[in-house]
Amino acid sequence: MTRWLVTGGAGFIGSNFIRRALAERPDLALANLDALTYSGRRENLADCEPNPRYRFEHGDIADAERVEAVFHSFRPEAVVHFAAESHVDRSIGDATAFVRTNVQGTQVLLDAARRHNVARFLHISTDEVYGSLKAEGRFSEASPLEPNSPYAASKAAGELLVRAAAHTHRLPAIITRSSNNYGPYQFPEKLIPLAIVNALAGQPIPLYGTGENVRNWIHVDDHCRGLLAALERGQPGGVYNLGGDEELDNRTLLERLLGLLGQPLSLIQPVPDRPGHDLRYALDSSRARRELGWTPQVGLAPGLANTVEWYRANAAWLAAVRDAEYHDYYRRQYGARS
Ligand code: NAD
Ligand code: DAU
Repeated sequence: MTRWLVTGGAGFIGSNFIRRALAERPDLALANLDALTYSGRRENLADCEPNPRYRFEHGDIADAERVEAVFHSFRPEAVVHFAAESHVDRSIGDATAFVRTNVQGTQVLLDAARRHNVARFLHISTDEVYGSLKAEGRFSEASPLEPNSPYAASKAAGELLVRAAAHTHRLPAIITRSSNNYGPYQFPEKLIPLAIVNALAGQPIPLYGTGENVRNWIHVDDHCRGLLAALERGQPGGVYNLGGDEELDNRTLLERLLGLLGQPLSLIQPVPDRPGHDLRYALDSSRARRELGWTPQVGLAPGLANTVEWYRANAAWLAAVRDAEYHDYYRRQYGARS
């Protein structure tokens, strides 16, 4: 049995990754270390809980004693590190938790991984570490790191610690940088699930600024396929962009979603812009295609349609995640009721 320790596996991408890895790798045992913050829910993996190859470990990655205990008892051969504070708007409000988890927590994991001689450390990062593009061009792995939001800066700092551990201590670490994910189990603070949830309820959908900001969307299934490929076939010390094929400005994206939901475009409500809002992200993922044999397979049109259907079919999940904390956050962020 191969053993991988996943951090942050109760969140959006981590839960999709664990479900896929358990299904596709019959000789794999997984431990999921997650603090269950507002965006992490044990129920996201309710279908995996009965699997004897899966175990949940409640804990904070910045708590060195807890992390050591998990490494000691599980003895992972690889670490797949998703755990993070992940929302840009929350980092603008207060960056404290971002520094603790994304920076300090990453160092705690790196130290434990070194002590326990793990064979691979996969660090899941983001295209936001590159900063913002104008209308033309794409980021390659050689582009400079110029993060703009506190979230992006904390992810860049975490990455640099991973790079240093790989360089100085020869930790066999791999970094992936993905573009904007969408799909099942995404917490409805992010644009796509927020828009779907509000549209289903006939409520306004806040659109920041002009709506001309462009994102490079990737279905979470494609991202998870890329992560498996990077973990199993990536070059130690390597960095891989994992970007989707399609770019879309936010207004056009919302128009498409409203079309799929049969709701009027008048639900789109322009609101003041996000401070420091990055204009455009776009990734050149040719290295991952060439070296990992990875290509995205889910087109944006079917991907969005399936995502809308998932949220329609999972009203109980949505009701549970839209708890008191969510409604407080929504009021603080948008000055409106959710
Ligand atoms: P998410 O917010 O849905 O999940 C984060 C998970 O981490 C949650 O389960 C949470 O409980 C857990 N967590 C937070 N702090 C923790 C701590 N101190 N100790 C242990 N667990 C903790 O985020 P996501 O969208 O699934 O993102 C996962 C990773 O992928 C993050 O590292 C993020 O930066 C990266 N990423 C996300 C996207 C995207 O579009 N969502 C794109 C590129 C990269
Ligand atoms: O690019 C990868 C990143 O994508 C990840 O690293 C982050 O974890 C993830 O949150 C995401 O960041 P963004 O800031 O791009 O995603 P978000 O869904 O918050 O916003 C997408 C776009 O939509 C962005 O241009 C801001 C805009 N937006 C967002 C919200 C929440 C709105 O116009 N209105 C909104 O209410």
